[in-house]
Amino acid sequence: MKDKEILEAIFNSMPYGIVAVGNDRRVLLSNELGSAYLRLPEKQVPLLPGQVEHIPDLYYRLQELEKNRQEPSFDLLAVPADGLFLTIRCRPIPQGFVLSIMDVTRSKQTERHMLHTMLEAQEEQRRKLSTEIHDGIGPLISTIKLNLDALKLELGGQPSHQAARMMESMSELLQAMSAEIRNISHNLMPNVLVDFGLVAALENLCHRLNSSGKVKANFFHSGMRERLDLKIALGLYRIAQELINNTLKYARANTINIQLIKHPTTVVLVVEDDGVGFEPRLQEYPTGKGIGLQNIQTRAKSMGGAFLLESQPGKGVLATVEVPIKN
Ligand SMILES: Nc1ncnc2c1ncn2[C@@H]1O[C@H](COP(=O)(O)OP(=O)(O)O)[C@@H](O)[C@H]1O
Ligand SMILES: [Mg+2]
Repeated sequence: MKDKEILEAIFNSMPYGIVAVGNDRRVLLSNELGSAYLRLPEKQVPLLPGQVEHIPDLYYRLQELEKNRQEPSFDLLAVPADGLFLTIRCRPIPQGFVLSIMDVTRSKQTERHMLHTMLEAQEEQRRKLSTEIHDGIGPLISTIKLNLDALKLELGGQPSHQAARMMESMSELLQAMSAEIRNISHNLMPNVLVDFGLVAALENLCHRLNSSGKVKANFFHSGMRERLDLKIALGLYRIAQELINNTLKYARANTINIQLIKHPTTVVLVVEDDGVGFEPRLQEYPTGKGIGLQNIQTRAKSMGGAFLLESQPGKGVLATVEVPIKN
């Protein structure tokens, strides 16, 4: 075999695509995978953005290159390409640039699967904890209450002023404790979600917010005639919970608006507040504080969806989550 043939065989057997593009945008060289990923036609044609419309991120990058004539160097990590996920790296060469393209669909799926498993284990833990708190501590509190009532009887109708006050205060504390426990176990496992679905659960959440008097909560939903898959519903509920908690903790907001909108292939959750806002860019880097927003990102990813947070100091927060749903 001639060297050229050997080189060509090696070139074509590589586990990733290579496409070299000239300064005049003509494809100089490409191996079989490269041609397949970019759907290059047999005869060599210029690689114009329109050629790669099936890889939207690459399409935009090539358009930018056309417009700005900047140095052709970028990395697109795990971008969608018609059912696949590709990692595409572009580097300049004297004659133009070269694209290396790797199929990372498998590792992307593994990542999603791992996130899923992790979150599921977490939910299972919460379910257990919720049952234990509810069924274990609940009855103990009831028993203490009964004992307290019995003690009142035991002391007869005329307890000392001091004793009467202490018993009154104990009974109030027990009341508060059982309300708190109900709250905790509800937050751990929202039964209304399991029994009646996400719309009912979010309505319930808003109702509790409004009666807390801390903030005015509005809920709007559309297209939600059928119930969502429980996993998606639970994921979205957890995200709403964290966003609302953040509003209560940080925003000093008057109003929270929650929207749940079903589109033909996706469902969108929007949580918006009119509070103090913040500079979200700071949150992109682990600062050591706060994992709530990161968890939301993880959750959205594990459902194959996306999370976007828009905020500015003084402008409130607008958080959007969009996840795909099966019909
Ligand atoms: N609704 C909000 N209004 C104002 N600031 C917010 C809001 N949500 C989040 N933040 C800011 O973003 C930070 C990160 O939030 P998060 O990741 O949930 O972590 P944590 O709640 O544990 O602090 C918060 O510490 C806060 O400074
Ligand atoms: Mg938080």
